[in-house]
Amino acid sequence: MNNTNKFLIIDTDPGVDDALSLAMLSNILKNNDDNIIFSSIGGNTSLRNTHRNLINILSALEISYKHLLKGADSTLLGEKFTDAEHYHGKEGLTLKLNNSNLRTHNLETYEYIHEIYNSQKNAKIKLLMLGPLTNLAKTLISFPEISSIIDEVIIMGGAFFTEGNATKYAEFNIYADAESASIVFNSKLNIRVVGLDVCNDLIIDKIKFYNNEYSFLKSDTKSSQFSKNIINSFFEYHTNKNAMALCDPIATICLIEKNLFSYKNCSVKVIAEGDKIGQTIPLNNNNNTNIQIAHKINGTEIWNLIDQLFIE
Ligand code: RIB
Ligand code: CA
Repeated sequence: MNNTNKFLIIDTDPGVDDALSLAMLSNILKNNDDNIIFSSIGGNTSLRNTHRNLINILSALEISYKHLLKGADSTLLGEKFTDAEHYHGKEGLTLKLNNSNLRTHNLETYEYIHEIYNSQKNAKIKLLMLGPLTNLAKTLISFPEISSIIDEVIIMGGAFFTEGNATKYAEFNIYADAESASIVFNSKLNIRVVGLDVCNDLIIDKIKFYNNEYSFLKSDTKSSQFSKNIINSFFEYHTNKNAMALCDPIATICLIEKNLFSYKNCSVKVIAEGDKIGQTIPLNNNNNTNIQIAHKINGTEIWNLIDQLFIE
């Protein structure tokens, strides 16, 4: 039982790459004394599906945690989330998992974070955001005072110096709830953001995968076998794809080892309406902003770290 005042909240919309992130985290979390909290969000598919997928993934990987939270089922403006089922598969995963029953906390994510603030003023929260930023924006809007206990936010999102993947302007997580992204990037929270600028540099190559060239998939650990099944199901689902993106796993590496990335200190403007909705524009590259945009990665070192993370 953890009695630390430190919380790690992993906010996710599983999603095949979210699933790989959770597999990557499963071993390292065993040695982490923080209060581990998982939170679902709509995005890649409906909240109903992402929450069920999160439960089934946590169960399949036998991940221990303090609480499982259900997040927002619509965007901050109350709109239905768009989805990316064309990529992640119907209901959000290309792999069929056994259905599990894990208890969901009775508070929604934004309410739970406020509960931490009310009960532990000296709490320190680190957030890993792997989907739309709705839950964090809803918390900041509803309870601005919680900023004082948020230590750091690592975000997978944005396309700052490259084209988007939802539209040519916008990356999916930002596009899915641009209003929330604008609120988060305009906050004064300490943010490290991993966008498509670096995600395109690290992928799973189909030929290398079927030639069994990825060391992290050769372990007999649960996380390694789970990951192999997810990747195989992805390539079986997408017969025309030769690569699988690792956006969320790269953002997760940024949580674990931030020094494997180079950053640009910029403010960020998010376009929240019109044809370019979801576009993330880096402004005034100076050293006194609270936002660090990852713009280069040490690919070799990241692969070495990934290999280590899958050995129990
Ligand atoms: O653009 C990539 C992001 O959108 C990833 O988080 C993926 O899971 C989807 O949510
Ligand atoms: Ca995601």
